[in-house]
Amino acid sequence: MKKEILELLFHAGDFMSGEQISDALGVSRAAVWKHIKAIKEEGGSIEAQTNKGYRLTALPDVLKKEYIDLWTKEDHERIHYLQEIDSTNEYAKKMARDGAPDESVYIAELQTKGKGRLNRGWTAGIGEAIQMSVLLRPGFEPAKAPAITFAAALGVISAIRQVCGLEAKIKWPNDVVFGGKKLCGILTEMSSDMDQVEYIVCGMGLNVNQERFPPEIADKAVSLRMITGRRIDRVRLCAAMIDSVTSYFRKYILHGIDSIFDEYCSNSVIIGKEIRIVGGAETMTGLCEGFSKQGALIVRTAEGIREFLAGEVSVR
Ligand code: BTN
Repeated sequence: MKKEILELLFHAGDFMSGEQISDALGVSRAAVWKHIKAIKEEGGSIEAQTNKGYRLTALPDVLKKEYIDLWTKEDHERIHYLQEIDSTNEYAKKMARDGAPDESVYIAELQTKGKGRLNRGWTAGIGEAIQMSVLLRPGFEPAKAPAITFAAALGVISAIRQVCGLEAKIKWPNDVVFGGKKLCGILTEMSSDMDQVEYIVCGMGLNVNQERFPPEIADKAVSLRMITGRRIDRVRLCAAMIDSVTSYFRKYILHGIDSIFDEYCSNSVIIGKEIRIVGGAETMTGLCEGFSKQGALIVRTAEGIREFLAGEVSVR
């Protein structure tokens, strides 16, 4: 019922009397009041005026399905909110092993053991970030898995463009950057046999409302709030992210790499640049020529053309 009340108030955009709400939904006015109180307790603003009723002026800054649903373009059935969890990627993998379906989305307010690439951690305080993992069961061969990250990155920059009007870019393999600093990290993990992927978990951590970062990462990380100078509506942005990453995942899974490849390349910050890549034990420098259709980085080095499937890139 809370969902129905929210939908009425959200779409009305104006005052609705308790009577109008209770008539429209066939519930008592006491029930209406109880749900309005619950929305306020989560941090939403609902103006109440005698003779006019209630007007929703702000949704709670809580990434629950009932709030996200108000903003998404399509109905995503499988959005799960976790107040606190070790890591949404770990949780999604556990859910996958327990049989959770394709396109399940797990969002956490707080991760106690957030994971980054190359065994690093990933941390964000309450209310600061969007941390979510999408479980996919694409049923394709393992070689196609790395480029899922291409689709995720395109989905993230598209959502940022729609909600914040910013042109964020992609730094291979999986960082979304702005002005040379990292806005979002993507960690893709999979379970597979030789022929077929059992599942993929694609985790995204987007810096949204941080006002600053600790000195050790201050020159590398940035948030949307720091760029725009204003607090960003996380619920709206999270909804846009779910819509757009889902749509790029479907595009890639159904139509293959050619359907997203050019768009990925045109949003890359390293194509055509002199780069340094640290891949495992070796460090190479060279010109970034582009990417393979499997998601590898192609570099023209002094010893010739080299391909990297993983590594850390910096622009020289
Ligand atoms: C990186 O840049 O190294 C990748 C960072 C990925 C962080 C996200 S936050 C949501 C998901 N859960 C995790 O534990 N990690 C990813």
